[in-house]
Amino acid sequence: MVAAAAPTSALALPPEGAQAEARWSCAAAYRPPVQEMRIPDSVLRISRHKGHGIETEHPAVFPIALPEFLIQAYTDEGEAVFEPFAGSGTTILAGQRTGRRVRAIEFAPAYVDLAIARWRLLHPDLPVTLAEDGRDYDAVAAARVEAIADAA
Ligand SMILES: C[S@@+](CC[C@H](N)C(=O)[O-])C[C@H]1O[C@@H](n2cnc3c(N)ncnc32)[C@H](O)[C@@H]1O
Repeated sequence: MVAAAAPTSALALPPEGAQAEARWSCAAAYRPPVQEMRIPDSVLRISRHKGHGIETEHPAVFPIALPEFLIQAYTDEGEAVFEPFAGSGTTILAGQRTGRRVRAIEFAPAYVDLAIARWRLLHPDLPVTLAEDGRDYDAVAAARVEAIADAA
């Protein structure tokens, strides 16, 4: 006579209560994947900037809140931010607000002066110096005026 063996799976099953417990402990251990990159919303709602004072000397000044939001979304405090089209220096001001070091380029000398004047208005206590030799901005501006007068 041949005895039928019980199915292996039935033998392997733990008692009913233990199964439920296993399911619960599994659920507790589950962690959904966390996205490591910060991705801002694709639509930013920021009040339009109404330029006033010296800001009206540049045609495309945008609100400081705009670069401020993006800087905070994509960088950490203390990191460097590159602004290749500085204009009136809005990104530089946003960098100051958020604790980032901004490296900016502006093509038009008049807008460089404007960006510096705007910076000085908002931060009169912080010196503006030429990285090359440490000269104060006023000394550099005076030397430039002199050079232009000599050339004329
Ligand atoms: C749209 S404006 C930026 C305005 C700025 N976001 C602000 O809030 O004032 C662009 C600026 O880029 C400058 N620009 C254009 N071509 C450039 C270049 N090749 N290198 C550096 N700056 C440049 C222009 O002179 C202008 O001031």
